[in-house]
Amino acid sequence: MCNRVFSIALGTGLVVGVVVGVVTWLLVRTPVEEPPRLLDLDWWEHTVIYQIYPRSFKDSDGDGIGDLKGITSELEHLVDAGVGALWMSPVFKSPMKDFGYDISDFYDIHEEYGTMADFEELVAKAHSLGLKVILDYVPNHASIESHYFIKSEAREPGYENYFVWADPRPDPENPNNRLVPSNWISQFGGTVWEWSEKRQQFYLHQFAIEQADFNFREQAVKDEMVNIMTFWLEKGADGFRVDAIPHLFETEPDENGIYPDEPLSGNMFLNPDQPGYTTQVHVRDLKELYVVVYDWKTAIETWRWNNRTDAKVLLAEAYANIINTMLYYGDEKGRSGAHFPFNFDFITSLNANSNARDFAYIIKHWLTYMPKGNVANWVFGNHDQSRMPSRFRPNMVDGLNSLNMLLPGVAVTYQGEEIGMRDGFVSWEDTVDVAAINQGDETNYLDYSRDPCRTPYHWNNSTNAGFSTSEKTWLPVAEDYMEINLQAQKDADRSHFKVYQILTRLRKEPALSHGSYHVEALTANTLLLIRYLKGYDTYALVFNVGDEPDIALLNEVPFLKFPLTMVATSVHSPRVPGNIHTIDHIELDAGEAIVLKGPPT
Ligand code: GLC
Ligand code: MG
Ligand code: CA
Repeated sequence: MCNRVFSIALGTGLVVGVVVGVVTWLLVRTPVEEPPRLLDLDWWEHTVIYQIYPRSFKDSDGDGIGDLKGITSELEHLVDAGVGALWMSPVFKSPMKDFGYDISDFYDIHEEYGTMADFEELVAKAHSLGLKVILDYVPNHASIESHYFIKSEAREPGYENYFVWADPRPDPENPNNRLVPSNWISQFGGTVWEWSEKRQQFYLHQFAIEQADFNFREQAVKDEMVNIMTFWLEKGADGFRVDAIPHLFETEPDENGIYPDEPLSGNMFLNPDQPGYTTQVHVRDLKELYVVVYDWKTAIETWRWNNRTDAKVLLAEAYANIINTMLYYGDEKGRSGAHFPFNFDFITSLNANSNARDFAYIIKHWLTYMPKGNVANWVFGNHDQSRMPSRFRPNMVDGLNSLNMLLPGVAVTYQGEEIGMRDGFVSWEDTVDVAAINQGDETNYLDYSRDPCRTPYHWNNSTNAGFSTSEKTWLPVAEDYMEINLQAQKDADRSHFKVYQILTRLRKEPALSHGSYHVEALTANTLLLIRYLKGYDTYALVFNVGDEPDIALLNEVPFLKFPLTMVATSVHSPRVPGNIHTIDHIELDAGEAIVLKGPPT
């Protein structure tokens, strides 16, 4: 009995206890926070853009020149690499004085590259693979073989002022002397003014003699530029990389028709024919140009809304100071411009001698000046610049690619960066770049040549690195293709390509696509980048940008919690993905980079 009473009491007690416990738990439990909902991003806002230089990507017909069919046949490589969009340097009809940047027909495909049907096939296949296609749009100039120029030179009605025409500057000493209108120097060297016998006037060219600058003060020119963009949007282009925009306008002549001279830069190492001899105040960054960019934005947005398509992007190629660069995003009056101007800071402000403080400073530079609500982007190389591992150090390839992929915004990869391709050597005899040829002789052509960064892509270790079956390719294939090529990197356990794949996959992580950032130099040589988002895993890149081993402390780093798991490591690192890092410091070899994953902050 006693026992029974006791067990009833015990049972009741238990029940009461459990009920009280549950109620208390319900009342005092700390609510488990849901991770914040992620805003939908537009396709371009966190994509990786892969730049293809069509002449050097893949040759399908054995003429030693890359072409559209070649690109189409290798689109799977882009998917495999994990990029979202491709940008092709110009594929339009061109006499190739500047390898496609001198366009003679803005509405047609260059014969060596294929046909309009090939283009359509490329776009269709890219889209079916989920890749966006961005075209190169070259508004500043046209080839002197274009019908625009031919008509303008002949003063055909409607075309008289299509280009920038000028009379000779009067020579008080000798009226028969035909002086150039001003001392302005072309980007490729020599005067910007070229005499036309036919028209008996000079025309202006900021680049090669064969690339005549359009006159953007002429409404007909502005209208035609919009027609060209519309044509390619209708062909399925997903946007444009806009070439050489800072050069759109030049200062006008005074009431007597006299153009002002540029001030001299005072650089004693240059001769009067070399760019840099003058300070360019009359031929770049003129205020008028931004409005043209804003108008283009309106034009493509209007087209996009009328046609109910995905976003069409406008990406501005502008080597300019930070204030002028940011104007491409839009202005204070709320006018919207390019989706972004390319960020060339890693190219123009950093090199192999830069330390981690320089890197941190340069990263913050862009992010500090970028007006709120815009998307950043990062560029490590292109067809005009020495290749990334050559400008920095080959052992930095994985670290630089990691930086590109982990920084907020859009990552831009120039073909070959995913496998660490370096500059090829191009002899003076093999040189084809106008910027180098204009130097006249062998002495300093390599300081100007863009050929070394344009040598063909390394697919494998067969003839011509698998680029072409031709005996001779338009530029020689770089000698190191036996060691550095895509196939070898696919076959290897560890390679730049495999690191690149891990990184592009990692970009889907919320901290990378939507998170905040923290950048600092842990030591003079070890750079730290953290990406974090409340409720989601944190990612950190530690990267020794120096040329000797370095030790950095990790214990006082904000947003970083242990244990840390390695998710990507440089090819030459003694660590491999999956390793756990538990100690409060890290020792890195020269150039070594490690991407770590930590618990949510
Ligand atoms: C841009 C291109 C370059 C070209 C120049 C003139 O800078 O990237 O390759 O030579 O414009 O079009
Ligand atoms: Mg070909
Ligand atoms: Ca111009």
